[in-house]
Amino acid sequence: MAKFLAVSGSIRQGSYNAELAHYMVRRAQEKGWDAEYVDLHDYPMPIFNEDLEQDQKPECALDLAKQFAAADAIFLATPEYNGSITPVLKNTIDWLTRQGQGAFSHAIFGIGSVSSGALAGVMALSHMRDILSKLSALMAPTPLGIGMGATAFDENGEIADPRVKARADKLVDELTSIKRG
Ligand SMILES: Cc1cc2nc3c(=O)[nH]c(=O)nc-3n(C[C@H](O)[C@H](O)[C@H](O)COP(=O)(O)O)c2cc1C
Repeated sequence: MAKFLAVSGSIRQGSYNAELAHYMVRRAQEKGWDAEYVDLHDYPMPIFNEDLEQDQKPECALDLAKQFAAADAIFLATPEYNGSITPVLKNTIDWLTRQGQGAFSHAIFGIGSVSSGALAGVMALSHMRDILSKLSALMAPTPLGIGMGATAFDENGEIADPRVKARADKLVDELTSIKRG
């Protein structure tokens, strides 16, 4: 069965980006995919430092890198922190690239950002796309920026605005139909 992973670049309790990642997991499951939410709380990695690579590599980095390399589609949601992606997500990406697993070479990647303000994380999305392009990741075309996070989801975790929901569902369609080969 095809594998879908969704990661939130926020480990905040009540994170809007985690809510979005869970939404994408449910949609992919409805399409018959083996879809799973990856909680970065379960993959604690120290701030990357090449010195640690000798004998203090976090085992969870290799574990997650293998999961990325085996997945068919991966959705990465990130808050915008000062115009960029979050430190926990960048740190995770940096560790994954050092595991020798080709973590970004197999899946097709989708990116999304939920922001508390009106601007929908557009700068974070731009940085995320730029970073992933440097890793030779293949990205789905639809970027998913969602503003006003506090009201973006209803009590069931569904996306409240039908136009935003249509965009999210389009991205799931892309992620579950485009193959890297
Ligand atoms: C350090 C920091 C920097 C932030 N910078 C931005 C920003 O540049 N643009 C923006 O739209 N929101 C910014 N925010 C607000 C986030 O959009 C907001 O906290 C959002 O809820 C975080 O996502 P989460 O709910 O998934 O944790 C910032 C928040 C923090 C903590």
